[in-house]
Amino acid sequence: MEIFTKKQPLKVTLSKLKAQNKTIGFVPTMGALHKGHLSLIKKASQKNDIVVTSIFVNPTQFDKKEDLINYPKTLENDINLLKNINCDILFNPTVDEIYTDAIISEKFDFDGLEHQMEGKFREGHFNGVGTIVKMLFKIIEPDKAYFGEKDFQQLQIIKKLVKKQHLNVKIKGRPIFREDDGLAMSSRNVRLTSEHREASPFIYKTLKKAQKKFRKENASNVIKWVENQFKKQTLLELEYFTIADEKTLKAIENKESSKKYRAFIAVFAGKIRLIDNISLKIS
Ligand code: PAJ
Repeated sequence: MEIFTKKQPLKVTLSKLKAQNKTIGFVPTMGALHKGHLSLIKKASQKNDIVVTSIFVNPTQFDKKEDLINYPKTLENDINLLKNINCDILFNPTVDEIYTDAIISEKFDFDGLEHQMEGKFREGHFNGVGTIVKMLFKIIEPDKAYFGEKDFQQLQIIKKLVKKQHLNVKIKGRPIFREDDGLAMSSRNVRLTSEHREASPFIYKTLKKAQKKFRKENASNVIKWVENQFKKQTLLELEYFTIADEKTLKAIENKESSKKYRAFIAVFAGKIRLIDNISLKIS
């Protein structure tokens, strides 16, 4: 695996590969890699000649300084994992290499997707995500880029970014990878205390039950039921639970059979914020 910390030599190498008609699959990450990330990289390597992974903890997408400082960093281990799954290229730039002038975000209009859910609770987050992903796409110019449904809102926003900015890359969404007990894999999971880690499978269990209930009940009943379940939990604090249209991400008004719905949740387990989601069927 070749490791690049600078844009220019990476671009030179990639343009040589493109001249040989090699297809490039790209997986952007913030490192502290787990099986969820690896599932994206494996898919990228099945579908492309060359796989590029980036590891960059992007400062502009963190709304809380504390979260940025405490974000887990395990570069040596990440490099070993990447070598073992045949990743061809790792791009691991410094903040200065990416944000040459100032550490600020471009402002985007994602047709309202950015005002729902995570956008309401994490100020400026999606401008930060849009900024870095656009920059990385411009550097790497991949044929396909892979994103997890774990961050379903992010995935929809990236699709919108590509469409609105006329970027020439195909965006591929991949399913959520979970621990055996159902907790969605996340780099932040290693920061959970043992008692919060033990309590956390409750999130997915509740999503599964909500999924079942939604077949027979209306959205507001399901929402009330989930909120009540969390009131009984002392270790987990519900930030939001919402049922939304997959396309617009707007909260559901009435069930319509032509639409696809998904339930979204954000929970604090102590200081650690966990998000998850599940697709819903009407009947
Ligand atoms: P990060 O949280 O490192 O995630 C990188 C990619 O892995 C994202 O597309 C995310 O949705 C996916 N992913 C994370 N956990 C997953 C899981 N359990 N199952 C499947 N996929 C999973 O998301 C980011 O980084 C950043 O916002 C980034 C896009 C790199 C921009 O900075």
